[in-house]
Amino acid sequence: MTEFCSGIFHIQTGEFSYLFRVTKFGQLEHLHFGAPVAREDAAALALKPGTGWGMSAVLDEDDNASSPDTLPLEWSGAYRGDYRESPIELCDENGAVPTDFCYVRHEIWDGGAKMACGLPQADGCGRTLAVTLRDDGCSCELTLFYTDAGGTLLRRAELKNLGAKPVYVQKLMSFCADFAGTYDMHTFDGGWIGEARRHAAPVSGARVVNESVTGFSSNRHNPGFMLAEKGAGEDEGVVYGVNLIYSGNHYASAQTSFQGLTRVMQGISPAGFRWELLPGDSFETPECVLAFSDAGFNGLSRVMHRFVNSRIVPPAWRYRPRPVLFNDWEGCMFDFNERRLKDLARRAKKLGAELFVLDDGWFGARNSDRAGLGDYAVNAKKLQGGLSGLARCVGDMGMDFGLWFEPEAVNPDSDLYRAHPDWAIRQPGREDILCRHELLLDLTKREVRDYIVDSVSAVLDTADIRYVKWDMNRQSVLNGTRAHEYILGLYEVLGRIFAPRPDVLLESCSSGGNRFDLGMLCFSPQIWCSDDTDPVERLMIQGGLSYLYPQSCMGAHVSAAPHAQTLRQTPLSTRANVSFFGILGYELDLKELNPAQEKEIRAQTEFYKAHRQTFQFGEFSRLNAPECWTGWQARGDDETAAGFFRGLVHAAPGYVKLRLTGLCKNTRYRVVTRPQALRVAAFGTLIKYVSPVRISPDGAILRTADRIYAMPDGREDFTATGAALMAGFAPAALFAGTGYDKNAHNQGDFGSEIYIVSEDTGECRKK
Ligand code: DGJ
Repeated sequence: MTEFCSGIFHIQTGEFSYLFRVTKFGQLEHLHFGAPVAREDAAALALKPGTGWGMSAVLDEDDNASSPDTLPLEWSGAYRGDYRESPIELCDENGAVPTDFCYVRHEIWDGGAKMACGLPQADGCGRTLAVTLRDDGCSCELTLFYTDAGGTLLRRAELKNLGAKPVYVQKLMSFCADFAGTYDMHTFDGGWIGEARRHAAPVSGARVVNESVTGFSSNRHNPGFMLAEKGAGEDEGVVYGVNLIYSGNHYASAQTSFQGLTRVMQGISPAGFRWELLPGDSFETPECVLAFSDAGFNGLSRVMHRFVNSRIVPPAWRYRPRPVLFNDWEGCMFDFNERRLKDLARRAKKLGAELFVLDDGWFGARNSDRAGLGDYAVNAKKLQGGLSGLARCVGDMGMDFGLWFEPEAVNPDSDLYRAHPDWAIRQPGREDILCRHELLLDLTKREVRDYIVDSVSAVLDTADIRYVKWDMNRQSVLNGTRAHEYILGLYEVLGRIFAPRPDVLLESCSSGGNRFDLGMLCFSPQIWCSDDTDPVERLMIQGGLSYLYPQSCMGAHVSAAPHAQTLRQTPLSTRANVSFFGILGYELDLKELNPAQEKEIRAQTEFYKAHRQTFQFGEFSRLNAPECWTGWQARGDDETAAGFFRGLVHAAPGYVKLRLTGLCKNTRYRVVTRPQALRVAAFGTLIKYVSPVRISPDGAILRTADRIYAMPDGREDFTATGAALMAGFAPAALFAGTGYDKNAHNQGDFGSEIYIVSEDTGECRKK
């Protein structure tokens, strides 16, 4: 419901109410964003400035409380008495101009507010409120849009030049609001192979900023962030979530004023931004999504996940099961030929893969990352039967075929670059700055966009390609304005290639998670989270992303250990258990697996497929797990899957209790662990204590046993009420140095278990 009544704007969904009103001076006064309330509550909710504060610029000399500097606002101008950070900065030919936008009219309609500029938007929207403000001083009109979508609020701004001279937009945020109270700002920061690490910074008088200026949303600072009240936890407390439907430079800030108002805003980064707005023209910001939860971070994640699954990913892929894939990259890198690929495909099929993905290295002179990027003609030496031959062979095996591209970049050592050096982004008069030996193509140019659309489309039409991995491995050197034009160009290209091919599954990637954002998710239902496939690291990366993005969009692969990124050894079972809470894939040389490992992987893919709906689309929660453990849960329609992951083990570990969430208290559930195997070799010389014959730890017997046999690891199967499972159940004991017990969990460091919890139909005790 969105209404305007008695001077109050009220947007209400099942999740929140958002209230504001127009002051007598024409500004928009923010009243409430939080739990659903009645419009009539506005007076009770409005902050009371009393007689105001001293030394404030006032709008009415006789009313000391009329200072724009101390009011909770929905928007604010510049150089007009509000000295907090402004969401807008405009210039004319003489420099910065003051702005002071005041209410002139509003409109409310059913549905969303479509943009003209080509930025992606959420769809399936409820109602839109558009409030138009004007500033005659700068001859501009500003429209603020408020649209409810799937339990969230979308906000964006549009600036129109009504004057006769150009105006320069240096900064125009998608939204701004002043929330009463103080918060911690939780951001997701990192770098290559270390993405999405959560940090919390207290917001106070000093401004806290979350920004990317790399040209892309970046692995340094994901655009999504949260503001949490002190004391908020996974399941309790007030938390706001904010994210931007945009893949370029972004900026968000939060700062608390002397009066205790926290001003928060988000939009395109103003760094190096200067957009010329000619008379009559408009500039549209990306959409920003705001969500509220008074049930802690998990409550917020639920709203954001539902929003992404139902309003952001392309319609053809909403709640559509994603295939288990095999990708040849970590196993082969550039070293493959048709025979090797077919052999891998046969093995992948036997292990349960449904999609075979050929990664980098299939075209031109692309035998390393130094050459060939841009030349999408198949390398006939490697693939004698061409892509169509390989795709047919994979199809005949009963799998889909998928292909890697990096269409936005070019190696200087490529035919494309030699033919069109002017298509690459360079800085005139300066040395090129290379990143992974490549330059970006200039997507602000029509002919470059056409080339990418034509060349990628031509490849997609030559073979039965059902999946595309769209990679991009560098940062930009464009200034803020051109970086925005680039992103608009990218969206155009993606739309032109994939809108006519809605059933091609697009997985976007940027050196892993360098462009993990809502803008890309509007085109690609899944994103490769990170080039780090160590499950211990993935707990942090997928765990960080899980605050704002659902499991269904996280590419998560099992790779070989020791892991290429950390040199850590991890159990094969844990590699799968972590990947289950995403889109499961395998990315290792399958020829190096022994029969025992093959058997284990076959069991993993069978298990995942049987519970795929729950893992991919179940309601996700981060569990309150014991110290040094991580607990994740996905609650589906008929079952709940919970994963508990341990760090380093301690000798003689004590008792623990594990707590699930969101179950029906009075229902009796059956709880079963996923059967897991233990490598015989993991026991080394200890094997002599359980073997009736003498076995050398380096000998052929142990090696052979390790190849073909795995030992059982603590299987649990019990029933309990939801009340007991949520109060904390006692799992099987951990290995304690006192002997192997097949009923205990014996995996050592980084061991983990998956529990499947379903109603005990045998003896349902529902009241
Ligand atoms: C970076 C990606 O993140 C990897 O998964 C792989 O596709 C390589 N690029 C290929 O060059």
